[in-house]
Amino acid sequence: MTQAPASDQLALHGGPKTVTRTFPWPIYDETEVEAVAEIIRGGKWGNPDCSDLVEVFEQEFAAYCGTKYAVSCVNGSVSLRLALMACGVRPGDEVIVPPYTFIATASTVIEANCVPVFVDIDPDTYNLDPRAIEAAITERTRVIIPVHFAGQACDMDAILAIARRHKLRVIEDAAHAHGAEYRGRKLGSIGDAGSFSFQSSKNLTSGEGGIVVTNDEAIYQLVRSLRNVGRVEGGQWYDHYNPGCNYRLTPVQAVLLSHQLRRLDGQTRLRDENGQYLNELLSRIDGIRPMPRGLGETRHCYHLYLFRYDPAAFGGLSKVDFVERLAAEGVPCFRGYPHPLYKQPLFQNRNFMCYAIPETVDYTNVCCPVAERACGEEGVWILQHALLGTRADMEAFAAAIEKIQRLVRV
Ligand SMILES: Cc1ncc(COP(=O)(O)O)c(C=O)c1O
Repeated sequence: MTQAPASDQLALHGGPKTVTRTFPWPIYDETEVEAVAEIIRGGKWGNPDCSDLVEVFEQEFAAYCGTKYAVSCVNGSVSLRLALMACGVRPGDEVIVPPYTFIATASTVIEANCVPVFVDIDPDTYNLDPRAIEAAITERTRVIIPVHFAGQACDMDAILAIARRHKLRVIEDAAHAHGAEYRGRKLGSIGDAGSFSFQSSKNLTSGEGGIVVTNDEAIYQLVRSLRNVGRVEGGQWYDHYNPGCNYRLTPVQAVLLSHQLRRLDGQTRLRDENGQYLNELLSRIDGIRPMPRGLGETRHCYHLYLFRYDPAAFGGLSKVDFVERLAAEGVPCFRGYPHPLYKQPLFQNRNFMCYAIPETVDYTNVCCPVAERACGEEGVWILQHALLGTRADMEAFAAAIEKIQRLVRV
């Protein structure tokens, strides 16, 4: 075996890193610092003293998404659950979800006393595969939750057509999809309701937070009530009509989000351009297959840049070892979810605690082959903040992959 020169060693083995800069996130300046400081100095730190700032952000976000209403809350898990409850689900109702997503997409279904039904993903998008949805529909199915994974739009035309045929509600899990578009419409604004997360890794963040957007007045009123301990508009402070809780956003989070929202479009444009450029660069590398574009997404926001990895083109190097080497080269990347959600102990052990999941529900025999492949040797993520770099940075990411390939093949 030929020994590579020291300057051509992998960074993992002591060679020079291919990417030497870092990629900051979140991005802010004195505007955010001053806006937060003003609230602190004013001494009105919580609701209801300062709820006007929360309402301002809600109106801004609704206008941004093109919906009539938006209701903020503590995080993007609670926003999903409140949206489900507001859609009128009942104990034991079935909700179709993809298995390649964060646990909240399915665990909030359990928390709404409903049954998650896992439907496999499309190999070209890692989004819910509409061709597999219809076979999973039963007389108990009430809702479909498409996740716009990584910020790429699901096939909403097909999903909405199925929902209309079977009289189902559609809640878009848009936790990854701030600012992304499908046929010119903002993701989250297309189904009955859309749910977003503002957790710290997300493309729009206040550290934690979530929001439901909708055009449906009844969903809006119910989510507002559930987020505010069951109070209703026009009711008294100590009158409670619904089984809600205190899930309110704080004014500090709201002003941060208002300022961050002004940065979102510019950042999304840049990520979209860099994502398309990376597609061009990576599709030239043997064993790397970027996700195709042109499937209805008019704007991808690349919360994650996904690509498919083939160990055979890298001398049999496992995905985990490849990602370790790529990260050492300075590319912000991750192997993704280790298992499809149904393999989580929560589902395998039926650890549903007080939730009313029928005894007949058994996840030990669920198998979604595309999701298993994505979690196994195939799916690799580059993280959103890295897509805020320059074209030269994208070239360096491609060079890092080529370097690994060259050296493992030596
Ligand atoms: C697809 C998806 N849905 C929902 C959530 C839940 O959001 P949060 O962490 O704000 O509760 C996340 C968070 O990572 C997510 O990735």
